[in-house]
This record gives sequence, C-alpha cells and structure tokens, in this order.
Amino acid sequence: FNTSEDGSVHVAREIAALIKTRQKENKPCVLGLATGSSPTRLYAELVKMHQKDGLSFKNVYTFNLDEYYPMPPDALQSYVRFMREHLFDHIDIPKKNIHIPDGTIAKEDVAEFCRSYEEKIDKLGGLDIQILGIGRTGHIGFNEPGSSEKSLTRLVTLDQVTRIDAASDFFGDENVPRKAITMGVGSIMKANKVYMMAWGEGKASVIFKAVEGPISDQIPSSFLQKHRDCTVILDDASSSGLT
Ligand code: F6R
Repeated sequence: FNTSEDGSVHVAREIAALIKTRQKENKPCVLGLATGSSPTRLYAELVKMHQKDGLSFKNVYTFNLDEYYPMPPDALQSYVRFMREHLFDHIDIPKKNIHIPDGTIAKEDVAEFCRSYEEKIDKLGGLDIQILGIGRTGHIGFNEPGSSEKSLTRLVTLDQVTRIDAASDFFGDENVPRKAITMGVGSIMKANKVYMMAWGEGKASVIFKAVEGPISDQIPSSFLQKHRDCTVILDDASSSGLT
C-alpha cells in the first residue's frame, strides 16, 4: 500500500466483512489482537465503522497477544489500558468476550493461566484472524529470537532491544518489565488468517529478514513464511528493502 492509512483501512474492511458473515451465520468471530503503534490506525477505522456504519461487535471474541509481567491493568503502559483506549471503550463488544493475558497473576499460577488461555481459544474454534506487528528483533507477540515454532502461551524474558524500544513509554529502559506473558509462535500459526502490519523505514530491514530471509528461530516472524494464509501489510517505506 502507498500509505499505512490505506493498508489499515484494507485490513479493517476484511475484519468487518468476516464479522458480518459470522453474524449472518449466527456464529462467533474470533480475533487475535496486537498493541503498539502498528495497529492503532486499524482500530480507529473499526471504531469509525461501529460509530458511523453501525458495525456491531456483539459476536466478536478477542484474544490479545501479550502483556508485560508484572503489570497492573490500570497502569499507563498496560495493554489492557491500551486496548480500552484504542478500541474496547468505543465499540459494543461484550466485556466477557475480551481476553488479555493477566499481568497480575501470581507466578505459581502463570502456567495454568497460559494453558487455559490456549484452551479458551481452541474451544471457540480457534482464531479466525490474527493481527500482528513486528518488533526490531523480528519478534511477533513477545516471541523473541530463540522462540520455537511450536511455542504456546507462556512467560518469556524480553530482549534488551525490545526493552529499549519500550523505554519512552516507561520513562527509561530500567523501568521496562523484564518479562511478559505472550501467545506463542505455535498459537499464532494456528490462526486461520494472519495479517502482519509494519510501517515506516525503521521496519524495512526486519521485514526483509522476515519475508525473504531464511526461516529461523533467530527471526521468529520468519516462521510465518510457512503459514497457509498470511498477508504482510506494508507501506512504501517498510517494503523498501524487499527485492
Ligand atoms: C504488541 C506486540 C508486539 C508489537 C511489536 C511492534 O502486542 O505483540 O509484537 O506488535 O513490538 O510494535 P510497534 O507496532 O509499536 O512498532
């Protein structure tokens, strides 16, 4: 796409079309969602579709990819807060349909929480659409280099590059949590359809590695080359490194 705006509107239309199809069938629509700067324009478009065109999210179930750990839901940097501000507070999705990894869970309960997160997705029939951004390390969700292709939802240690990239949100990288709960590469690979979005020149080099480089756990997003239906949504600048 020429611009991130055009790319975001395209993905929003695809999501809206699926939500409406599922409504006609009286079935749920299950979405995997990301935070960060990449999907903000997409969420703004979905909010607009709700407010202006009456698109309803009553049959939509959402599972966010990740959350910092530990992280209280009302903290400035929490992904719960991010999702409320950008999407959930402005649409008619039932609260019980929203799922975000719990950054307040006791350490001894994390493994069980992660197992049940996967189970909830499976019970709904799996993710219809997974939205992704990509980090400078090549991460998707918080699956940093070294993450296995089969990994599921779990507690992970953040790469230092990722912590530096988050530093401005936390007023210094020393305040960025060292851990996060993230859906795994395997959880993402199970989604029916994946859209990975990246904008701007700063993403051009990692996009080249993910899309045209060797498939390797050193660039976890490169596993998407094996996904049966993944579309990478780029603007001119982020696609400038592709041959
Ligand atoms: C966020 C997430 C991350 C981001 C990635 C890109 O939920 O899972 O993988 O998508 O770090 O972040 P932005 O979009 O801010 O460049």
